Amino acid sequence: MYDDNPTLVGLTKTIDEQRQGEAFFQEQAAEAHPEGVRHFYIESYGCQMNFSDSEIVASILGQEGYQSTRNMEIADLILINTCSIREKAEDTVRKRLRVFDKVKNNRPGTLVGVLGCMAERLKTKLLDEEKLVDLVIGPDAYRDLPKLIATAEDGDKGINVFLSREETYADINPMRLDSNGVTAFISIMRGCDNMCSFCVVPFTRGRERSRNAFSIVAEATDLYERGYREVTLLGQNVDSYKWENPETEETVTFANLLEMVALVHPDLRIRFSTSHPKDITDEVLYTMKKYDNICKYIHLPVQSGNSRVLDLMNRTYDREWYMNKVRRIYEIMPDCAISSDIIAGFCSETEEEHQETLSMIEFANYSMSYMFYYSERPGTMAARKYEDDIPLEVKKRRLQEIIRLQTQVSFAHNKQDIGKTFKVLIEGDSRKSDQQFKGRNSQNKMLVFDKQPGYQPGDYCYVKVNDATSATLIGEMVQA
Ligand code: 5AD
Ligand code: SF4
Repeated sequence: MYDDNPTLVGLTKTIDEQRQGEAFFQEQAAEAHPEGVRHFYIESYGCQMNFSDSEIVASILGQEGYQSTRNMEIADLILINTCSIREKAEDTVRKRLRVFDKVKNNRPGTLVGVLGCMAERLKTKLLDEEKLVDLVIGPDAYRDLPKLIATAEDGDKGINVFLSREETYADINPMRLDSNGVTAFISIMRGCDNMCSFCVVPFTRGRERSRNAFSIVAEATDLYERGYREVTLLGQNVDSYKWENPETEETVTFANLLEMVALVHPDLRIRFSTSHPKDITDEVLYTMKKYDNICKYIHLPVQSGNSRVLDLMNRTYDREWYMNKVRRIYEIMPDCAISSDIIAGFCSETEEEHQETLSMIEFANYSMSYMFYYSERPGTMAARKYEDDIPLEVKKRRLQEIIRLQTQVSFAHNKQDIGKTFKVLIEGDSRKSDQQFKGRNSQNKMLVFDKQPGYQPGDYCYVKVNDATSATLIGEMVQA
């Protein structure tokens, strides 16, 4: 994900950096552009939740007869699904809006819409002050798109940034955009109630709510039947998933849900993201252990390795508590990989406290991390209560130290895999060669290996690792 993350080169695993801002479309739909059919063009920024939301938007537009296109010049509707998580993400979006404005000038009648987190954060500013957009639609208002488009076509501004306590889009079957046909995301909950002091998400995405468990299982089953072999259950905080069956009044926890999806088919792999350390229970860990098709990989953002800073961040755990959680994961699943999100230079962080973040990377032995320097976000608790007092050069230097260490730790982690054989789900051709496949193992590591006849994307195979970089394992296919 994380568009302004300087660290991703070679380290990205779950989120493909290449996809930031890429125009998404559905292969099939793009082949023909019949006269009279209206087209939409959509770009997505930010986290996987946003990419997944774009698929919901595409589905809603598909129902209205719109087709997707990769060419904004022919689009009747240009949409940008935005991120507010750091200042840089917002700057990128503003630049793109200027580009869209030019397209609009050449093709009057084209509507430009801002979706997602910035919509909620900037609302009228985008419509009134900058006059670059016709539609502003927050993450809980996508069902309103057709109505808002009609409003905008009549020359009025279409805006809905209402945040819902219920909306989960449970009944909408997402239109898979730019899909490899093998892996897909399923949104299981929306919003966040955690109130980490640095984070804008509770303000842009609203309160936490969980989606109907049966609709999730139905979506996973449908994907499996269509040939998909891996689903990632998505939410800002998946471990606090909780859904009450209105008929039986039984509560489905995240552990229960994991099991329900794991039972769809043993050949359907399950991943999930993101976990808040405070919510991941032993029950979840034992469920992971019980099912081979639940991947042995946990994204467990630490944010800081120092207890005082964690307290300021309102993370609700301290260093010791987090370390115990990591110990517990490795105790229950010795083969589990753990990754993290880390923020350098949070308000008042000292050099000693920064050192504790570095030592946490080694202690937890993260397979990879997403690493950022702190960027103050208006309206957050940190912006209101604490001074953003670490000079930019210091933040950047600390971040570089974090990146350097994580790269070493990732490399050592990967070197440990040399000589081992893994079950790999083939996702497609490797980036460098059509003679090679790429695919991931349970631990979410990307493997690259020469093709053998008879195998195709969506198949499982066994790969013996012969070599490693800090980002990739290089191997050869072997018999099970
Ligand atoms: N500054 C820097 N990084 C941030 N993140 C969230 N808010 C901020 C911020 N204000 C990071 C956290 C989070 C990830 C999605 O983005 O590490 O886990
Ligand atoms: Fe960005 Fe967070 Fe919104 Fe995702 S949820 S788009 S990361 S602000």
